[in-house]
Amino acid sequence: MRYYVQFGAGFGSLVATALRADLEEVRTTFEDDSAMLFESSSPPDVVSGLSYVKNAFRVLGEVPRGELPAAIRKLTKVIRDRGLLRQVRGGGVFRTMTNIDGALVGVPPQVRTRLETAIVEQTRSKLNARGGTGDEYWVIGRRGLDLLVFCQRLTTVRHRAPARGSLRPDLCALLVKASEPRLDDVFLDPFAGSGALVSARIKLPCRRAIYSDLRLTEHRASLPPPLLKSRKAEIRQDDATVLDSVDDHSITSIVTDPPWGEHEDIGLPFEQFARKMLLSFDRVLHPSRGRLLMLVARRLVPVVARQWDSVGLTPRTTHEILLNGHPATVLVGGR
Ligand SMILES: C[S@@+](CC[C@H](N)C(=O)[O-])C[C@H]1O[C@@H](n2cnc3c(N)ncnc32)[C@H](O)[C@@H]1O
Repeated sequence: MRYYVQFGAGFGSLVATALRADLEEVRTTFEDDSAMLFESSSPPDVVSGLSYVKNAFRVLGEVPRGELPAAIRKLTKVIRDRGLLRQVRGGGVFRTMTNIDGALVGVPPQVRTRLETAIVEQTRSKLNARGGTGDEYWVIGRRGLDLLVFCQRLTTVRHRAPARGSLRPDLCALLVKASEPRLDDVFLDPFAGSGALVSARIKLPCRRAIYSDLRLTEHRASLPPPLLKSRKAEIRQDDATVLDSVDDHSITSIVTDPPWGEHEDIGLPFEQFARKMLLSFDRVLHPSRGRLLMLVARRLVPVVARQWDSVGLTPRTTHEILLNGHPATVLVGGR
């Protein structure tokens, strides 16, 4: 089956990794900074349930991209000639949308009516142009893609807006995936803040997940209830550069977003802070199974990578992402 998914701008490399872990036989045919077209043998309900995907679509057909009205006429002919919608379970209401290069665009009324008539005939659904509930059929064009694709929208997971300063839930899900989570993980986020990463981690099986932050008292009131209620989670107040409350070699996975020394005072030049942080991570990480994922500003990568190296940790994979438009790098590695 073919799918088109949209995700947070700049997360492409993480999404590609996560899709390969979550879906069967993924073959990507197009990718840009916020969308991907791919084939997979996984069913639509699995694709629509991916927590890091903003919108998911099943691709039903395609025509070469060209002048829009002519291309949509061609698409309508393909739908009719090949009966593209005969397999779709209809019977309800639907509407059509056209999104070209990231923006919704209008289509000449006769062209749209013909397309909608073809949909009515094959699905026995009723047109409800005003939207609301019902099926959505999308005509989508992307810059750099020489096709216009015709898709049915799959329902997708809705996220609440994150608290200020907190990582977005879709990014947290992607970072946890990129850390290659294991069933027997003892997980730690030592700069846990709003608890977004620990919340993403406890959605997947693990032995224990530790939330730790120096300023727990400031964060506690806004920690998410599922995190506070989870039997797997432990909430601690600790300095990540010391981690007094964590035993030596007791952690198998650290996934964290440390301060970059830009918006908050870390009390030391960043290089010294990074040195203390890596020494402390080295002490608590399991000597053979310890893994580390760290999100840092891209300009800090040389400094951080030196400190990983100095304690015998190797970044095996890097993902370059955009965090609110700022270049950032995800370092993933271990012993
Ligand atoms: C960039 S924020 C992390 C945000 C977090 N990923 C989230 O989604 O909310 C850095 C966090 O590190 C905490 N912090 C700063 N210095 C610390 C230290 N030495 N030890 C532990 N936590 C510290 C801050 O209180 C803040 O919550």
